[in-house]
Parts: sequence; C-alpha cells; structure tokens
Amino acid sequence: MDPADLESCVDEAVERWGSESTQLLQVLREVQERFNHVPPAAMDCIAARLHLPISRVRGVAHFYEFIATEPSGAYRVLFSDNVTDRMRGSSELLQRMCHRLWVEPGKPSEDGLVCVERTSFLGFCDQAPSLLVNQQPITRLDAARIDVICELILARTPLAAWPAELFGVEEQVRREGPLLSDRLQPGDAIRAAFARADRGSAGTQAVLDEIKNARLLGRGGAGFTTGFKWESCRRQPAEQRVVICNADEGEPGTFKDRLLLTRHAELVVEGMTVAALGIDARLGFIYLRGEYRYLLESIQAVLARRRELGLLGPGIAGRQGFDFDIQVHVGAGSYVCGEASALVESLEGKRGIPRNRPPRLAEKGYLGWPTIVNNVETYCAAALIQLHGAEWFCRAGTPRSSGTKLLSVSGDCARPGVYEFPFGVTVREVLQECGAGRTIAVQCGGPSGKCIDQDEFDRRIAFEDLETGGAFIVFDEGRDMFEVARHFAHFFARESCGFCTPCRVGTSLLSRLMDKISEGRGSDRDLQTIEELQQLLHGASHCGLGESAGNPLADTLQRFRPAYERRLIAHGVEPAFDLDGALARARRMTGRDDPGAHIGGTA
Ligand SMILES: Cc1cc2nc3c(=O)[nH]c(=O)nc-3n(C[C@H](O)[C@H](O)[C@H](O)COP(=O)(O)O)c2cc1C
Ligand code: SF4
Repeated sequence: MDPADLESCVDEAVERWGSESTQLLQVLREVQERFNHVPPAAMDCIAARLHLPISRVRGVAHFYEFIATEPSGAYRVLFSDNVTDRMRGSSELLQRMCHRLWVEPGKPSEDGLVCVERTSFLGFCDQAPSLLVNQQPITRLDAARIDVICELILARTPLAAWPAELFGVEEQVRREGPLLSDRLQPGDAIRAAFARADRGSAGTQAVLDEIKNARLLGRGGAGFTTGFKWESCRRQPAEQRVVICNADEGEPGTFKDRLLLTRHAELVVEGMTVAALGIDARLGFIYLRGEYRYLLESIQAVLARRRELGLLGPGIAGRQGFDFDIQVHVGAGSYVCGEASALVESLEGKRGIPRNRPPRLAEKGYLGWPTIVNNVETYCAAALIQLHGAEWFCRAGTPRSSGTKLLSVSGDCARPGVYEFPFGVTVREVLQECGAGRTIAVQCGGPSGKCIDQDEFDRRIAFEDLETGGAFIVFDEGRDMFEVARHFAHFFARESCGFCTPCRVGTSLLSRLMDKISEGRGSDRDLQTIEELQQLLHGASHCGLGESAGNPLADTLQRFRPAYERRLIAHGVEPAFDLDGALARARRMTGRDDPGAHIGGTA
C-alpha cells in the first residue's frame, strides 16, 4: 500500500470532517472504507492530524467491529447473525459461500481477496437472510444469490459494477396509522411550533408544554417522559445545548427506524428542529448505525435541501436568533453505542463505553453541554404533536401510553414488515394481522425485552404492560426456544463492552453454560446457576445491556423449561471442566502414568 495514498486519504477525511478529536471515528471509518482496513501507518497519520495520542486512536479503532486493523480482504462480507437470519438458513448460506470461495469464516483468504465474517444484526430481518459487502446491504439471500456474489468476487468485479438489483432494500409498510400516513410538508411543524410559542406568554416553553400534554413517552424502549427530559435540559444554564437523534437501531429484531430514515427523514429532522426550538439548542446530530451507512447520502441530501429552504442553519424559517444545524455521524458496528451515554461518548470520538450517572445527559452530555438523546420515532411523534396538537395525539393509545407504536414484525409470519398500531393492541391482534400461525412464542422488544408464550397473547403492547422499542419476533411450533435463548446469550457475550465485571464475566459464563447444556453435559445445578447469574447481572451491571442480558434465558426457562430439561443428562452436578482429560495431557507430556498422576491416586 502506497504511504502517499494513505496520507492523502487521511487528509481528505480530515478536510471533510475537521481536525477536532470528536471526528476520530469518522476519519477512521473513511480510511476503512477506502482500504478495507486501517493500517498502523494510517493510525499514526490520524493521530498526528487530530493531535491525539496513538493509544487513543488504537483504542478506538479496536473497539468498533467495522474498523479492521488487519487486512480484511478486498471484499469484506459480513453475514447478519440474528436469530431471524438463522431461521431463514443464513448459517448454511455462509458455509456455501465459504466453500465456493475456499475460505474459513473469519479468516481472510491468503490472496487477500475476501473475508467472510459474522456480525450480530444488520437490521433487515423482514428480508432475512442478509449481508453487507463492503458496507453495501444485500438482502433476501438464497443459494442462487450467494453463487452470483461468489462469481462476482472471484472475477474481482468492482462493487460499482455489480448488478444493481442485488442491492435493493425493500421497505414493507403493512399498516399505516397517523404517523406513517401523515403527509407533512417541510416546515409545517416548525411553523406550528412558532405559532404556539407566539400565542401566549410562555414563549418556547409552550412547545415543551404541548409535548408534556401529549404525554409522549420515548419510543426507544425504556419509555422516558420526553417532555420532562427536554424541560430538564432546557433548565440547565448553558451557552450551548445539543439535540441527538439515536438512529443506532441495534436491538435485534428492530428495523422501523430504517423505514423512518428512508421514507420519512423530513419528519425526523422536523422533530429534531422542534426539539431544538423547545430546548434552545443550536447543534444537532443524527447518530446513524454503521449498518445503515448506505442511507448516509440520502439523509445528507434531506439536510442540504432543508438548508436551501431555510429550515436548517441560521434564522430558521425566518426566525431571527433561531439557528440550528445537524450533522450525521456514522457508527461502526457496536450494539452498546445505542445506549444514550455510550452514544455520546462515541460521538465525541471515543470508545462507546456507557458513562457513570449522575450527571445525566440533560445536565452534562455532548462535550459537557446539556443534551437530549431521543429515538428516531420519538422525534417523528414530537413533530406531529406540534402540528396537530396534544389532544389529537392522545386520541390513539391508552391513558398511560398515548399515540401509536411502530412494530418491526419478523420471524414466522406471512407478512413481515412495519406495522403502526395504537398502543393497547394485543399480541394476538398483531399475530392475526401479520399472518402468523401455530405461534408458540413472541420475543417482544428484542433480546433485551420479553419473551412471552401462548398464555400471554392477550397482553397489550403498552408501557403499562408489554414495553417494546419495536421488535416483534414470531416463533412457531417448529422452533426450539432453548436454541433461541442460546443464540441471544451469545449475542450479549459478544456485544458486552467489557467495562464492568458482572457483565463481562456474567455474559460469557451464561453463553458457556448454554453451550454446555446444548452439548448434553448440563445438570439441574446449571439451570440454577443461570437463574442466579441473571439476577446478578440485573442488579450489578453498569448499564442496560448487562441488566437485560439474562432476560431471554430467564424468560425461556420459566416458559419453556422442558426444552432445557430434555438436554440435561445429569440431575446432579456435572463439572464444566474435565479435570481427568487435562491430567491425561499432563501425563503424556511428563511421561508419568503412576497412580499418583491419576485422580484419586496416591503420590
Ligand atoms: C445496550 C443498549 C442499546 C440501546 N440501543 C438503542 C437504540 O438503538 N435506539 C434507541 O433509540 N435507544 C436505544 N437504547 C436506549 C437509549 O439508551 C435511550 O434510552 C433512548 O435513545 C432514549 O430515547 P427515547 O426516550 O426517545 O426512547 C439502548 C439502550 C441500551 C442499554
Ligand atoms: S453492563 Fe456490559 S455493556 Fe454495560 S458497561 Fe458493563 S460491560 Fe459494558
């Protein structure tokens, strides 16, 4: 690799993103895109240009899965490894590709042509299985498509010359409600917010009051009260406040933010602008997950158009003093970066490790400024509340959960896709509408959410009953819920950032216990240990990832215990470590076979 090429690539990236340390991840990402890895010389150059210690550059590069620090092939293929991909045969397709390309999973080919790897979840489970090749998504994989991809790779066809139809991502809207059917024109909600602020004496506080009156709860999963979050940020004395849109969408099974960013990006940005007016912010970010890198240009085009229309930038919609603009930052493959404080760290160009709280982000967030972080869908709802009013918004939903919810429905059903339902809809109603039959379980809210069985299908999607960020994965009677839980245990172990011991060790122990049971070496004691570990993780972890990592195991153990029990061979204690096997190796190495070298023998 020509060092001059490397340098000019780094310089171009620094030119585009700036030389502040906050841009580190973006610069690394651009080098990665150009060379398919970030070689040590590039890291040195980046450290010099951004005036950072090399240890910081290396630390950040190693943290993110999509930044490769070793050559990863001219074509880097990442197979989505969510449970919905496996249900559609992704493992067999990966094997097929590896066989045809003569590579082992995870290892670059010797000629440096290709590397085929697995990644946790790409966000296309309505059209699974899927993969990324050099960050470009290909969905609806089958044997024929895999063969075409292999031929293109073996012929070293540049990605730009691959058939365009390979890359289409379909957006399947199965049910529209007030949010998805709204035909808001750019600026409508902003002008409605101005009118509201000008009507009484409250000024822009009236914008926040409308959000509070609508009782809007965050759509990212945890259901924080949006109006109070915004108000608490506004109250902080500061010369700068920040609005962040969490478009990380990493929860396996969720893809409704992808739809919003593809088809309703105007609405998302409108909502962010309304929030900026409400909290008096000038700076905004969309944190776009690395898996959705293909959407970057279209989102940037929306931002550029709005700048031309005077809806972003100085004096928005002719309002003197209302200056607000938005940058898009692209992530690089890390689930924990969806956690709001980890996301802010990542935006600052650091490793995405969740912060200690207090202080809350509303007090000290991005670069120490008061910051709000909200989900993509929350901003859409906020824009519509300004436009149509709180009363209109509350007409849908339940008293505690106003409005509608977008559900990403996938798994064993005839009509996967995005559905907009009023809060309060029952699981059974969703199952009927999406064409699910013989369903035994639904994973609601992804692996960090809740797994329910047939006896609970009359439960309601609502913050007072089943909370969900949007994932709704359906499993029919052909599925083995133990294997589903084992898969999720591996997901959490892989995605734990390793910062705190309960999560780092606990998630790894859980995945190993599940493997042990799967191999037929488990005992009753292991089931008990799983329950104990789940409680420990829940109580002692530093962030929500660790807190919820044991949920799928606890839920399936409670509801599908026979799936675990039929794998147990011993109803007593079965050691995880084979002591005699290890001693046998030592005996061979030392040439000893006397009684003292055996368990129970005497020296
Ligand atoms: C491990 C982890 C991953 C998360 N991922 C996301 C995500 O991808 N998108 C999101 O909106 N919230 C995610 N959250 C929740 C955020 O921390 C935060 O609560 C949310 O963005 C707030 O927005 P809301 O109030 O509009 O829901 C995640 C939380 C955790 C613990
Ligand atoms: S709980 Fe897990 S993901 Fe969260 S900080 Fe601790 S190690 Fe990292």
